[in-house]
This record gives sequence, C-alpha cells and structure tokens, in this order.
Amino acid sequence: MSDSPVKSQTEFVWVPEASNIAREAGERLREFLLAGVETEYKGEVDLVTVADRTVEKLILTRLSETFPNHGIYGEEGTRERLDQEFRWYVDPLDGTTNFAHGVPQFCVSMGLEQRPSHIAAGHDGELVAAVIYDPMRDEMYSAERGRGAVLNGKPIHVSRIPELAESLVATGFPSRKRHDNPNIHFYHEFTLRSHGVRRGGSAALDLAYIACGRYEGFWEFNLNPWDTAAGILLIEEAGGRITDFSGNPVRLDSREVLASNGLIHDELVSLFIDMFAGRDLSPIPTPAQFAARRAERAVNGK
Ligand code: IPD
Ligand code: CA
Ligand code: CA
Repeated sequence: MSDSPVKSQTEFVWVPEASNIAREAGERLREFLLAGVETEYKGEVDLVTVADRTVEKLILTRLSETFPNHGIYGEEGTRERLDQEFRWYVDPLDGTTNFAHGVPQFCVSMGLEQRPSHIAAGHDGELVAAVIYDPMRDEMYSAERGRGAVLNGKPIHVSRIPELAESLVATGFPSRKRHDNPNIHFYHEFTLRSHGVRRGGSAALDLAYIACGRYEGFWEFNLNPWDTAAGILLIEEAGGRITDFSGNPVRLDSREVLASNGLIHDELVSLFIDMFAGRDLSPIPTPAQFAARRAERAVNGK
C-alpha cells in the first residue's frame, strides 16, 4: 500500500461513473456465470459467449448515456464515434476461457484515451482513466492520470521487491497461432529464476495485480488495446513500468507487453534481450530423455 500522496477518489473525473458501469457489467457477468452459458468458437480455441456480447452492448449503452461525446472501441466489434477526442477501450469479459469453464478469474476492463485533434491515425493519445472490475471478488481497481491508483477506494502501489529471484510473475499464451509462439521457453526460464510464474487467464487482472503489489512482473505476446489500456495506466499510476520487450514505451497496438514494479524492469528487459539472442537458456529435458533416466533409475533400484 502506498504512503505517497495520492488524491482521493472523489477527485477523479471519469472513474466514479465508469466504475458504476463496470460494476453493473460485472454483476451481469456473475449472473451469466451462475446461470451457465453456451460457448462458441471465434478461432481454433478462441472462445466467445453470449455474456461477452451482451455485456459489451450494456457497456456501450451506458457509456453512450453517460459520456455521449466519447468514442468506444470494444473487443466484440463496437466501433462508435472514433473521431472524438476521448475513446474508451472496452473488454467486457477479460478471461472468457476461465468464464466458459466456470473458473472465477475474469473481469471487466475499460481504459480511456484522450486523443488531441492534431494526432495522426496510428499514433497513441494519452491514457487518462482506467477501471478494472473483478465481480467475483468485488475488487474495483481504478486510476486517473496524475491522480493515483486505488483498489476499492484505497490507494495502491506496486511492490518493493528488488529482484526477479524474489518475485512472483505472470504471463499468458495467445489463443491464435499457438504453434508459432515461443512463450513456453520464457515460461520455463522465468520459472527457474523467480518464485514462480502464474498463468491466470485474464491479462487485465494480471496487470491489476502488479499495480496492487501482488505480482512483480508480467509479459505477454499479442495482446490487444482492450486487454491492456486500463492496466497500462493503472500500473503507471501505481508506480510501476510497462514497456515492450526491449524496454521501449508501450503502445496500445504493441504486440509485446512487459510490465513490472519498476525495480525489476531492467533485469526483465536484459533477460528478454539475452533470450532472443539465444544466450543463457537453461536446457529442458525432453520427455524421452526424462523417461530414459526414469527407466535407468528403476533398473538401478534408485
Ligand atoms: C484473453 C485473456 C488471457 C490472455 C489472452 C487474452 P479474453 O482475453 O486476457 O489472459 O492470455 O491473450 O486474449 O479473450 O478472455 O478477453
Ligand atoms: Ca481480453
Ligand atoms: Ca474479452
């Protein structure tokens, strides 16, 4: 928890109404979970449910009533008023695979970007507000640029752990083109070098967990702006760092996200650089090598 001066939540401009919307959306998700929902496939293993679509429509309606001049860019296809100065990136259900299997680890994520009129298409504006709501734990994370980050109204701060060896970190795996992704190597290497790697299934909650000091680090390939917009601001306002794998500023359309408490960030970037260069990889025994050793031990009676 922070001891730095953070303004109270009452000074937030957009968060009070946005968090009411996220809470209503989260309550709908909880009802859907209890009632059970049918699952469809968007891709090979990319799932979507009636809950994702219904809750995106609910958020679209509520945001349009509350902030009629704001644009909305939602995972399930909403593209409204994208020429406006303010734009919400909305993931109505981050953690659909968990949700579809009844695993209570998912959230609503809403991040607000301010885009001055002179900004060119393809360039980021400034993230100014963030709301992530976990309806199963009733945890509301929120932040505004320059006004700090809070969890259920109380200021939060990233952890003060100074090295990867003492850290708990998290990652996720893409659901598309899974065969073409090297993340399992990173998972292995980070497992050996930290207290452990969690794969929770909700990137927005993973980012929120760094902001409130539960995790020290997170990385993932191929996330989208609706997964990360809110989490980026939350982490920055909680005193952490978020970049690409080379340590460059993160962009909303970045295919690489590396987040941390700030203190271990340079160590994480160095590890990525070394791993991409093929250095410092710890060998993993193949199952066949492991089975051979196991058979040998059985013969030797050990
Ligand atoms: C997914 C979750 C997951 C991450 C995937 C995302 P969705 O979002 O954030 O943790 O590993 O890359 O696509 O599909 O549940 O909204
Ligand atoms: Ca998502
Ligand atoms: Ca989603």
